[in-house]
Amino acid sequence: MSKAPDEKDISIKIHPIDKEKVLSDYYLSIKDCKKCPLHRTRTNLVFGAGSANADIMFIGEAPGAEEDKQGIPFVGRAGKLLDSILSAAKLRREDVYIANVLKCRPPQNRDPLPSEEQQCLPYLHRQIEIIQPKVICCLGRIAAHALLRIKDKMSDMRGIVHKFHGIPMVVTYHPAALLRNERLKRPLWEDFQFMLELL
Ligand code: URA
Repeated sequence: MSKAPDEKDISIKIHPIDKEKVLSDYYLSIKDCKKCPLHRTRTNLVFGAGSANADIMFIGEAPGAEEDKQGIPFVGRAGKLLDSILSAAKLRREDVYIANVLKCRPPQNRDPLPSEEQQCLPYLHRQIEIIQPKVICCLGRIAAHALLRIKDKMSDMRGIVHKFHGIPMVVTYHPAALLRNERLKRPLWEDFQFMLELL
């Protein structure tokens, strides 16, 4: 079982009725972020979407063109696929929470730079701390590497319950990988079942 090196328990619990407000206040406090150069090319900072009281939190990589335009995560092609996976798993988008490692779109959808991750990750950490989901699901290698601070292969990260600050975390393929390779559909579905058993 992998452990983040700085793993600590989240000791301050926020009452469920306050979470929406705490989260939206947090959004307002960071929405004009200029900590890294990506603010110059973004249309919108893509904070996250879904329920502040979600049991499941999905973490992707970074906004793409459509997400940047709308300010909402996973609304492009990969997002449509995520929606159909969610509904096949009988999950509603509005009941889970979806966020990304980076809040702003990297040009040409390139991989996040280490410096961008370093600047942006505290935002995601705070979102997780506010929401306190029962399980976190990393969508793809980049989210898993950023949160777990490891560099393992996908095949070594799947099928294991990792922990992020005491919260169970699983890793599966990014929906965009399924768009390129249909054969990943079954393993992703198995990872979803594995995650749901943790609730
Ligand atoms: N890919 C991601 O990782 N995040 C999004 O929001 C959209 C596509």
